[in-house]
Amino acid sequence: MPPAAELWNEARAREIAETFANTKGGLLPALLAIQSAFGHVPGEAVVLLAEVFNVSRAEVHGAVTFYRDFRERPAGRHVLKLCRAEACQAAGSVSVAEVAKRRLKLGWDETDSEGNWTLEPVFCLGLCACGPAGMLDGTPLARLDGARIEKLIDGAAE
Ligand code: FES
Repeated sequence: MPPAAELWNEARAREIAETFANTKGGLLPALLAIQSAFGHVPGEAVVLLAEVFNVSRAEVHGAVTFYRDFRERPAGRHVLKLCRAEACQAAGSVSVAEVAKRRLKLGWDETDSEGNWTLEPVFCLGLCACGPAGMLDGTPLARLDGARIEKLIDGAAE
């Protein structure tokens, strides 16, 4: 299970942002550090980063929405990422994803109302030779099939 994120704290977020403020290209590492601390990049962080980096809010928001790894909302306690890129599709990822969606009762980029699970698509994890691939709470998964993904979901939920 991923570590619990801190609640939003502007002073802490400012401290993080200022760590990277004088670094060329520091916005992305600052966003990563904010997400690492708070579990997502809330709207308040976009405003704060724009101020600290002296860029527009649109520029910060653009970075958050361009890179799939950034989240604007908190994720569930468990995050299941399944690869949707070509090599994994050829190995059967579509049916694995259908099983996961049914089991979790979630679509792509959804989090259940209890905050237990988030299901996210990824587009290549570098595990193409042993697809279908995925990642559960940061642990890479290879050679997935329907039965295995159900077992992994059920095991993580216990
Ligand atoms: S295509 Fe799925 S890991 Fe590369």
